Amino acid sequence: MKIKFRISDFLVHALKRHNQRIFQKFRRSFKTYTCLILVTGMLLYFYNFQLQETDSLRAPEGALRVNKPINYLINTSTCQIPNDDPFNDDVMPFLKVEERSECSKYGLLSYIDKKNGVATLNVNKSLLSTYSNMPITCCYSNITRTNYEFSPDNEIKLSSCVPFESVVLYYPYVQVNCYNVLKNVYTNVHATALYRPRKRENSENSKFSVLLLGIDSMSKSNLIRTMPKTFRYLEDNFYNLRGYTKIGENTLPNLMAILSGHNMDQLNSFCNDSVKFNNCKFIWDKFKALGYVTAYLEDEVEISTFNYNRAGFSEEPTDLYYRAYMIASEKLKLVLRYGLYYCTGPEVAGERVLNAAKDFAITFKDSPSFGLFWANSFSHNDINLPSTMDESMLNMLTDPELLRAMDNTILILFSDHGFRFGDIRYTHSGWLEERLPFIYFHLPEKFKRIHRDKFDNFMTNTRRLTVPYDVFNTLQDILRMGNPSYVVQPSEGCISCQSLFAEVPENRTCNDAQLSKHWCTCKGHVYIDPNSPQVRSLGDRVVNKINDRIANSSEGYLCSTYSFRRFIASGISKPYVNSKNQSVNYYLLMIETNPRAMFEATIEVSVESNDIVEVFGLGRIDWYKPVTWCIRKSHIKGLCYCPWSSVFGYVKNVLFNIT
Ligand SMILES: *[C@@H]1O[C@H](CO)[C@@H](O)[C@H](O)[C@H]1NC(C)=O
Ligand SMILES: *[C@@H]1O[C@H](CO)[C@@H](O)[C@H](O)[C@H]1NC(C)=O
Ligand SMILES: *[C@@H]1O[C@H](CO)[C@@H](O)[C@H](O)[C@H]1NC(C)=O
Ligand SMILES: *[C@@H]1O[C@H](CO)[C@@H](O)[C@H](O)[C@H]1NC(C)=O
Ligand SMILES: *[C@@H]1O[C@H](CO)[C@@H](O)[C@H](O)[C@H]1NC(C)=O
Ligand SMILES: *[C@@H]1O[C@H](CO)[C@@H](O)[C@H](O)[C@H]1NC(C)=O
Ligand SMILES: *[C@@H]1O[C@H](CO)[C@@H](O)[C@H](O)[C@H]1NC(C)=O
Repeated sequence: MKIKFRISDFLVHALKRHNQRIFQKFRRSFKTYTCLILVTGMLLYFYNFQLQETDSLRAPEGALRVNKPINYLINTSTCQIPNDDPFNDDVMPFLKVEERSECSKYGLLSYIDKKNGVATLNVNKSLLSTYSNMPITCCYSNITRTNYEFSPDNEIKLSSCVPFESVVLYYPYVQVNCYNVLKNVYTNVHATALYRPRKRENSENSKFSVLLLGIDSMSKSNLIRTMPKTFRYLEDNFYNLRGYTKIGENTLPNLMAILSGHNMDQLNSFCNDSVKFNNCKFIWDKFKALGYVTAYLEDEVEISTFNYNRAGFSEEPTDLYYRAYMIASEKLKLVLRYGLYYCTGPEVAGERVLNAAKDFAITFKDSPSFGLFWANSFSHNDINLPSTMDESMLNMLTDPELLRAMDNTILILFSDHGFRFGDIRYTHSGWLEERLPFIYFHLPEKFKRIHRDKFDNFMTNTRRLTVPYDVFNTLQDILRMGNPSYVVQPSEGCISCQSLFAEVPENRTCNDAQLSKHWCTCKGHVYIDPNSPQVRSLGDRVVNKINDRIANSSEGYLCSTYSFRRFIASGISKPYVNSKNQSVNYYLLMIETNPRAMFEATIEVSVESNDIVEVFGLGRIDWYKPVTWCIRKSHIKGLCYCPWSSVFGYVKNVLFNIT
């Protein structure tokens, strides 16, 4: 698995260095390159084939077996979430040390200086001689979104490059190019929040700003493993919701539960590709309407939450929408790690996220604001890479200027889910972690003083079962504290969910929190032998369900038909009586198929007839990108296995980067 990534990293990197235009030209002259592609394909097929055969699964049948004495993250009358050791034996084989890449040999030649709300773009003259012995001139361009009709979220334009040494900025996203007489010696992009700070009026003293800072695919266990310094700091200065559980498969449902309070079925009825994401009842619209400055930034533009397999925004959703800046940054010289852009130009992509968040919070420290800053680049594709950002994260959180801005800000540092793909998912720890993203709240002293009761409730809730919908309600609670006329609308996805500043019932169940059986970890699962008759009979039937789903989709004919190969693991819950008054068991199954793919599902099975009553959360848990190249944008992308993937998947993914 690991080696596969490196091969594709290498090729993507080699090709991406030439910019988008060469890329497209390359695509057009497809035929000329057929030969090259075939040779490459054969080579990759060889590697792929070898790896598939030797890439054996570790600790398979133990995957749902808990072998240590149990203690719990939360232990309520209705929910006991196991508190697994982040360094459990079953995850140890997957841990390794990752070193940070330096993205530039020298210091940054350009920087933005901010004083009294005025942002100045400067050349750092003391560094000129390190870049060249010859004279250097620099120029800057504005980076704007073009609002191109078909792909408004993906096209940018650079204005003509105007020479400068020091210039006041009236536009937030700029590119800098520096040359000596021979060549370009430096290119970078910068973003800066430019809204003129407005003094918080006295009547606004209770308006707390909100800063959501997210790291994709980070369980609390992985935070402890890879970012120990940050974790220590958070434990000492923030408050952790120990029972926080994800409600949906990937980023979109979990973030939308926070940002709109809806589940995906509800959203699809009014917020779908026909209207792009501008019709989605985002909470930031409410903040904006009440005078808060809003911002949204996400790195990795291709896999961004609202753009991966989706149409993105037709109009900029927030006052500061950093996408044009991020797109520009991903056209610079790139260093890929595990298939994602670790360095974009001379900076670490993840640090661009942290720096922009910090700049936003500091710029608007005296005005009410709402910002979402989301990082994918160093955590989405590898469980160990976040370790390279521990220091940067700690530095950001402890920056004295940021700390001053935090006096009025509720900062939520969180994730959407744990690591979702690959070998670690076939272990007990991997299964559990995937459902338990980390979430820490910073609550300002002022908040604790004014709202003592709310703070006490929050502390009680740190040991209750909590879900993203509660965060949505909490954000509304924050809005209402500062705007008494604001009317709170309960989360549609979970009517009985609530603000975390009110006490969550001690006996809350997963059902109460609209948490499907598949994601619920309250009762754990008991290992059951996959060779037992009642499990064995489920294999073919579950695989048929997968095939049915694929066949039912308009693009389904493109995919291979699966057959059952074996169970990787199986678990069983204690019997329940379901809403139809049937006595049922819930089986958690991890299944391997032919052609090789891994699936996980929770299956409701009638005790009496052994019929499958319902399938919950049928999802893919292996790294499927390389084998789903034949599907463009479809909900079955995560289920499909495209025929001839070993050859063509890599060619298409690697050379044309079609995801
Ligand atoms: C969980 O709570 C129950 C009831 O309060 C208690 O008896 C039990 O010892 C607790 N278990 C653990 C592992 O803390
Ligand atoms: C300019 O570069 C020097 C040398 O690396 C560095 O010490 C200094 O902090 C830089 N100045 C700014 C404002 O970034
Ligand atoms: C960038 O945009 C600002 C504001 O519209 C303008 O004042 C400035 O001249 C532009 N700079 C360039 C290089 O086009
Ligand atoms: C998509 O959203 C539009 C506009 O809100 C709505 O009219 C349409 O019914 C939705 N489509 C589906 C399939 O629900
Ligand atoms: C939870 O407790 C409340 C009051 O303490 C009670 O009214 C409710 O029925 C309980 N719910 C369940 C599912 O036991
Ligand atoms: C197939 O699609 C139809 C209509 O969209 C739906 O009612 C049905 O439940 C689907 N079947 C499966 C197996 O997903
Ligand atoms: C549920 O089943 C039990 C036992 O079969 C029966 O006594 C009870 O009346 C049923 N309840 C409902 C609501 O159908």
